[in-house]
Amino acid sequence: MKIAILGLGTVGSGVLEISNKLKNIQVIKSFERRITSELSTTDINDIINNPEIDIVVESLGGITPAYEYISASLKAGKHVVTANKAVVAKYLDEFITLARENKVQFIYEASVAGGIPWIVSLERTKRIDPIQNFYGIMNGTSNYIIDYMYNHNADFHTTLTKAQELGYAEKDPSADIDGDDVVNKIIVTAAVAFNYLIKDRIPQYSMRHLNKVDLDYLKSKNLSTKFIGQGSIDNLNISASAMLNIINKDSLENSVPTNFNIVSMTAETIGELKFYGQGAGKLATANAIIQDILDLESNTSREKLVLNQNYTFSIDSIKNKFLIRTSSPINSPFITKIEEFDDFYYNYTDKITFSKLDEILESITTEYLVAKFL
Ligand SMILES: NC(=O)c1ccc[n+]([C@@H]2O[C@H](COP(=O)([O-])OP(=O)(O)OC[C@H]3O[C@@H](n4cnc5c(N)ncnc54)[C@H](OP(=O)(O)O)[C@@H]3O)[C@@H](O)[C@H]2O)c1
Repeated sequence: MKIAILGLGTVGSGVLEISNKLKNIQVIKSFERRITSELSTTDINDIINNPEIDIVVESLGGITPAYEYISASLKAGKHVVTANKAVVAKYLDEFITLARENKVQFIYEASVAGGIPWIVSLERTKRIDPIQNFYGIMNGTSNYIIDYMYNHNADFHTTLTKAQELGYAEKDPSADIDGDDVVNKIIVTAAVAFNYLIKDRIPQYSMRHLNKVDLDYLKSKNLSTKFIGQGSIDNLNISASAMLNIINKDSLENSVPTNFNIVSMTAETIGELKFYGQGAGKLATANAIIQDILDLESNTSREKLVLNQNYTFSIDSIKNKFLIRTSSPINSPFITKIEEFDDFYYNYTDKITFSKLDEILESITTEYLVAKFL
C-alpha cells in the first residue's frame, strides 16, 4: 500500500515512524508547509493527482483545508484515513457519500479515544444488536486535571499550569476543559453507534470552575467526578451531553489515572463493555491509523455507515438530577436539597430536563459549577 500523509505533526510523524517498521506500508509523500525530506511536497496536487497513492492519511487537524483535501482525495479515488474529529463531526455525511460514490473507504478510528479500538468495536457490536448507550472519559487533558486535583488536593489553576508544563494541556486549554473536544467525539461516536449524525447543539457544561472545595465535598460523601461524554437512544429519541458527572469513589472511571481514557457501550446481548487505554499521544494515535490502513490493505470490510436521519435529537428527551455549586442558595421549586460546605452551597435538583437546568443556571449571577448524577 502506498500512502501519503497530510500534516507531519505529532500524529503524522507517528504514522511515518510506525510505517517505516512495516514492510507492507510505504509512505511515498508527505504534505507539509515546507520541504523537509525527499518525501515532502507543499503542493497538494502532487498527492491528489498521483495515481500511485492508494491511501491519504489526513492529520492536519481543523476544518480548512482538511475538509477540501479529504473531499478531493475521495473524489480522486483514494481511501482516506483521518484522526481529525472536528472535520469528521462536521462533514461525516458528505464524506461517506463521496466515499460510496467513488468506491473507496473513509475511516476515522483515531478520531475518538486515540489508540483505543473504539469505532471498530462499535461496528462489531452493532452486527449483533443495536447499541443502547455509550459513556466515558473521552478527553485525556480533563482527566489529567481532575485525577491530579483529586489525588493531590490541588487547586485547578496550579494543576492546569502543571498539565501545560508536562504537555498534557495546550496553552489554550478551552477545547479540552469546556467540552468542545468531547462534543466532537460524541458526534462521531453517536454516528457510528446510532447511525445518526447529531447536527443540533449538544448540552455542554464547562469544568473550568471545578475547585478543590468541590472535590473535598464529593470526597466527604465517598463520591468523585469526571468529565464524561455520553449518548443514548430510546425508541427514536437520541440524547447526549458533555459535562462533569458525579460518580462513586470506587467506580472504574474514578480510578482512570493521568491522561488515560475509558469508554463504555451497552448493547442487549453483550451487556456493558469497557475499553481503557491511551486516548491520545503520537504512537498510540498513529497505531489506530495504521490499524485502519492494515484493514484497507487486507481488504477487511469495515462497516459502510448508512445514516438514518429519521431519529430525533432533543435536549429534553431525558431528565437527570444535577448538583449545582453556588455562592448563595438557589431559590427554585426544582431544588430539592441544599447543603452548605466551606462557604459554598451545594444545590440538588429534582429530575429535570436540560432546558430546565439552563433556566436555573441563567438565574445565577455569580460563578457556579454544575455536574450531573449518573
Ligand atoms: N495529538 C494527539 O494525540 C491526537 C490524538 C487523536 C487525534 N488527534 C487529531 O489528529 C490531528 C492532528 O493532531 P496533531 O496533534 O498531530 O497536530 P499537530 O502536531 O499540530 O500537527 C498538525 C500538522 O499539520 C500541519 N498543517 C496544518 N495545517 C497545514 C496546512 N494548511 N498546510 C500544511 N501543513 C499544515 C502542521 O504544521 P504547522 O505546525 O506548521 O501548523 C503540523 O505539522 C488533529 O485533528 C487532532 O485532533 C490528535
